[in-house]
Amino acid sequence: MMVAHHSDDLVQITEATASDVLGIQNVMQASWQSVYADLLSEEHIARTLRRSFSEAALARSVNHAGATYLVAWVDGEIRGMCHYGSPLLDDCENRKALYSVYVHPDWWQQGIGTALLDVMEAHLRPQRVTDVFTYVDARNTLASTFFTRHGFVHLPDDDRDGELYLRKVL
Ligand SMILES: CC(C)(COP(=O)(O)OP(=O)(O)OC[C@H]1O[C@@H](n2cnc3c(N)ncnc32)[C@H](O)[C@@H]1OP(=O)(O)O)[C@@H](O)C(=O)NCCC(=O)NCCS
Repeated sequence: MMVAHHSDDLVQITEATASDVLGIQNVMQASWQSVYADLLSEEHIARTLRRSFSEAALARSVNHAGATYLVAWVDGEIRGMCHYGSPLLDDCENRKALYSVYVHPDWWQQGIGTALLDVMEAHLRPQRVTDVFTYVDARNTLASTFFTRHGFVHLPDDDRDGELYLRKVL
């Protein structure tokens, strides 16, 4: 178990277990809806929430050995999560993919996203991981601003289908 306290002791980060799935689902659904309400149709949002953020899908990915799920707790409730691991299409073993980082919208701007990235980096550095990349929907400026302020650099040559490729050297 990996536990870290953020500087003001408000946020506690642990590695997720199967019993955290409903808390993770709540954060992902609220966060996703908040970001995409103005960008995607209601139908598209409902379909994605059903398929990708179902309890069964999340339980599978929490238990998957090749990746790590971190959860951020505030006063005993899950308010954020971060999921990272081996890239699907990348033969560089020192590089990891950040699949997602979500904070519940009621808790944005309080340092939870930063605490999750800090713990991820502290976990990866001793494993000789030299860099982390992520893809962000080009319309999601909230996320791309967050990442670039935290040291990720946009490398446009590797963008794909409406998504920006951002990489951070650790
Ligand atoms: C992107 C996201 C994860 C950021 O999470 P967050 O918890 O709001 O991030 P933080 O609070 O750590 O940092 C955000 C900003 O708040 C500031 N901040 C940190 N602590 C703060 C505090 N106590 N009071 C006020 N501001 C604070 C940080 O300086 C940062 O500002 P800056 O980036 O403008 O410099 C969150 O907005 C989110 O869940 N978005 C939707 C999901 C998403 O798009 N994820 C990415 C793709 S998977």
